[in-house]
Amino acid sequence: MSNVNESGCNREGFELIDRLESEGKLNKNEFVRLLSLRDGSLMEYAAKKADALRRKYYDDKVFTRGLIEVSSYCKNDCLYCGLRRSSRDAQRYRLSDDEIMACCKEGYEMGYRTFVLQGGEDAFFTDEHVCSLVSSIKEKYPDCAVTLSIGEKERDSYQAYFDAGADRYLLRHETYDPEHYKKLHPKEMSRDHRIKCLYDLKEIGYQVGCGIMVGAPYQTFENIADDLLFMKEFKPHMVGIGPFIPAHDTPFASFKQGTLEETLFLLSIIRLLLPDVLLPATTALGTINPIGRELGFKAGANVVMPNLSPTSVRKKYAIYDNKICTEEGAGDCKGCLSGRVTNSGYRLVTERGDHITKTSGDS
Ligand code: 5AD
Ligand code: FES
Repeated sequence: MSNVNESGCNREGFELIDRLESEGKLNKNEFVRLLSLRDGSLMEYAAKKADALRRKYYDDKVFTRGLIEVSSYCKNDCLYCGLRRSSRDAQRYRLSDDEIMACCKEGYEMGYRTFVLQGGEDAFFTDEHVCSLVSSIKEKYPDCAVTLSIGEKERDSYQAYFDAGADRYLLRHETYDPEHYKKLHPKEMSRDHRIKCLYDLKEIGYQVGCGIMVGAPYQTFENIADDLLFMKEFKPHMVGIGPFIPAHDTPFASFKQGTLEETLFLLSIIRLLLPDVLLPATTALGTINPIGRELGFKAGANVVMPNLSPTSVRKKYAIYDNKICTEEGAGDCKGCLSGRVTNSGYRLVTERGDHITKTSGDS
């Protein structure tokens, strides 16, 4: 069998990328092999093909989603997260409805047509509260999509938010492997419940995003291969991946961070696996490398989620250390990203940017 050592070029890797492109899938062993064969030439080859595919489906557009970080309180204790309930260093805040509406207004005036309300699992945001917020936003801005990213809930709650007008939901599955999931989460959380939430959301009719942290503690190539197989099966509308970045005052504070290279390679693989998926170049990618997001676009990413949160709270939404964009205001991030996107050869757009094949629940 040819491989990178024998042939002097990464023939086996190139062949796997070709097959992933033509068949839209590989089996678990092949994914593991592909991940282990990563080198500069293979990354470049995969990125070229990923870029061609994103252009085929979405042209040169990079979609924007205005991110409003509504609460840094969280009842969960995920071992990797700086906002876990055990973190004494975490500064807690929650935005009032007026503050959230003010963020939407500012975003709307800058052209944004998608608002993402993201927060920890905070009991203060009851179902009634979330529904009232969602319906206020939809009433005021009927042309906008509202995305929720507020964690695991019961199906009835998801249904209520949907009925109130929520269009999309982001819930990273974090890892498909139940054993790996246990290593990253406290006992009371389970992989099965996480995955059930994702299927509930999809059945209700949301456009759904799942995803993982690249280089998460204890993550193996086998784990990532399982994640890719799950993504193929689940068919998410969006996949959010970013490097794991240690957060101080967490059990993983001294673990090593995920790499730029592995994240970029995975972005390309996911684009080849799910050609029409919405794929953000995440803030975490921009945090580990000054041009991480630009490289992300070139590797197949086609979404950015600029921060719309009030500058006064940005530092407090510290899921990991050294997060970028905490001193800036909404206008700064828009200007900054627009330049970064243009310089990478793409076009920043603020339209709603729905996934091209909507779920059956959508009109
Ligand atoms: N590094 C990178 N990403 C993180 N997340 C949480 N903690 C970290 C960290 N330390 C990601 C998780 C979560 C999303 C909101 O942020 O994947 O789902
Ligand atoms: Fe916020 Fe660059 S995106 S400053």
